[in-house]
Amino acid sequence: MRKALILNGPNLNLLGTRQPEVYGKTTLKMVEEMCVTHAETIGFEVAHMQSNHEGALLDAIHAAKGTQDGIILNAGAYTHTSIALMDAIASVELPTIEVHLSNIHARESFRHTSYISKVVVGQICGFGAQSYILALDALAGFLDREGA
Ligand code: DQA
Repeated sequence: MRKALILNGPNLNLLGTRQPEVYGKTTLKMVEEMCVTHAETIGFEVAHMQSNHEGALLDAIHAAKGTQDGIILNAGAYTHTSIALMDAIASVELPTIEVHLSNIHARESFRHTSYISKVVVGQICGFGAQSYILALDALAGFLDREGA
């Protein structure tokens, strides 16, 4: 069975109560449960990890090499700042789908730049919790096309 790591960065542990008008009322636990359920229907086993610490996210990306077939990454605010996370994704050479709950391109200009987007297969944003489901489908389609 294919394996994917769903990796969430800073402040995403607060989903459900954090600015619900922007990020919705779905908690991270609910997002994870939705992903597990959907993943089963498309033949994926998913692992989840969330951290507020850049180094822990880097370690999780490194550990995914050789153990996961792909990564779904919501790097939170590190999206807009972290060359280290960009380098880590480029280094492990795992197909990665960038995810955001909100449409970062419709928000403040500092959110329009994503270092992550330079090294991923593609970006999905603006669909709330459904962004993660769309990302799983996108990863499955990519692996199908690659014959992986
Ligand atoms: C976010 C968008 C980021 O700009 C923000 O810093 C987040 C969440 C999103 O999922 O919409 O923490 O990644």
